[in-house]
Amino acid sequence: MLAPPVSLDPTAPLPPSGKIHPGWLRIMHWVNALAVLIMVTSGWRVYNASPIFDFAFPNNLTLGGWLGGALQWHFAGMWLLFANGLLYLALNIATGRLWRKFLPVSPRGVASDLGAALRGKLSHADLRHYNQVQRVAYLFVMADIVVLVLSGLVLWKSVQFDLLRELLGGYEFARRIHFVAMALLVAFVAVHLVMVALVPRSLIAMIRGK
Ligand code: HEM
Repeated sequence: MLAPPVSLDPTAPLPPSGKIHPGWLRIMHWVNALAVLIMVTSGWRVYNASPIFDFAFPNNLTLGGWLGGALQWHFAGMWLLFANGLLYLALNIATGRLWRKFLPVSPRGVASDLGAALRGKLSHADLRHYNQVQRVAYLFVMADIVVLVLSGLVLWKSVQFDLLRELLGGYEFARRIHFVAMALLVAFVAVHLVMVALVPRSLIAMIRGK
C-alpha cells in the first residue's frame, strides 16, 4: 500500500491512524544512530593518535584498527551523517514537523516537566507528543551535530575553510570544540538509551512506527 503524501501545511493535524513515527523518520533515525556509532568510535581512534588531554580511549572500543583505517571510517561515516542529517532537517522544516513536535519550549515548561519526570509523574501515554525535556534534548542534539560537522570541516580542510576556522577560534580551538561536542553527544546518547529502557514502548514505535 502506498504511504499517504506528506502534508506541507505546518498547521495540519498529525496523521490519524495509530502512526507515531512516519517511515522516513524511522529510517533516518536508525541511519543516524549507525552514522553516530561509526563517527564516535573511529573518532576516538583518530584522537588516540594525538591526544589533546592526558588520556586515551581504550583501543578495543575504537573502530579502524589504526590511524589510517580510522580516518577512512570517519570520512565514510561523515557523508552518511551529513547527507542523512541534512535530509532530516530539510524534511522536518518543509513539513512544519520541527515546529509542531519540538516547539514551543520555555525554561518554565522544561523545569515543570523535569520536576514531574523526577517525581515519576510525567505521562508517556501519548508517544506522539514530546514533553519539554525531550524537546530540549532533541533540539540540543540537532544543534550539537551541526557544531560537530562544522568543526569537523575545519579539521578536515583547514586551509579551504579558513573563514570558518577563524570563526571557531583557529585550528587548535576547533579541535577542542569538536571534542567537547563529541562528549556532549555521547552524554546525550547515554541518557537517551536510559530513557528508552524506561519506556520500551517508545523503542517499538521507533521500529514499527506505532
Ligand atoms: C541504539 C541507539 C538508539 C536508540 C535505541 C534510540 C531510540 C529512540 C527512540 C525509541 C526514540 C523515540 C522517543 C519517543 O518516542 O519518545 C528516539 C527518538 C530520537 N532519537 Fe534516538 N535512539 C538511538 C540513538 C540515537 C542517536 C545516536 C541520536 C542522535 C545522536 C538519536 C536522536 C534522536 C532524536 C533527535 C529523536 C527524535 C526524533 C524525531 O522525532 O524527529 N538517537 N530514539
